[in-house]
Amino acid sequence: MTTRLLPIVFAAALASSALGCNKSEGSAGTATSAVKIDSAAAKEMFNTRCSPCHGTSGRGDGPASAALTPKPRNYTDAAWQKSVTDEQIRKTIVLGGAAVGKSPIMPGSPDLDAKPEVVEGLLQIVRGFGN
Ligand code: HEC
Repeated sequence: MTTRLLPIVFAAALASSALGCNKSEGSAGTATSAVKIDSAAAKEMFNTRCSPCHGTSGRGDGPASAALTPKPRNYTDAAWQKSVTDEQIRKTIVLGGAAVGKSPIMPGSPDLDAKPEVVEGLLQIVRGFGN
């Protein structure tokens, strides 16, 4: 009797944890709308990791950009802003330019795969330069 009950108890536990999961927004790392945004961490990361190439004003004119071909993306370019999806920008940030058919000079940040809240913040910063 007890052995026949076990699978039922297990299934019930699974079902209830799945339900709990649905309720807690943001626990699913890749769900776009539910992801939290860590703007402060993203800003710090942009200043240390991205601005040397993309520039503090997002124009692709950071100090390291002089030696680069192609030049880092100028985020203030309205035509470019329209041409890319949020998903492509996220992918570029985490996996690098080569992953989206762009230059491999644009480095990925694989460590951010585990920090969707920072990726989301960086996406906002990149989009913000377009406004
Ligand atoms: C070593 C210099 C360098 C660094 C550091 C760098 N980038 Fe880039 N980035 C580039 C270059 C060069 C391109 C242009 C690639 C192309 O157009 O082929 C680019 C392109 C991009 C694009 C546009 C991709 C597209 O689809 O057009 C985004 C978005 C971007 N970078 C975001 C970032 C973010 C966010 C960071 C910091 C986490 C960062 N980059 C760090 C050099 C850099």
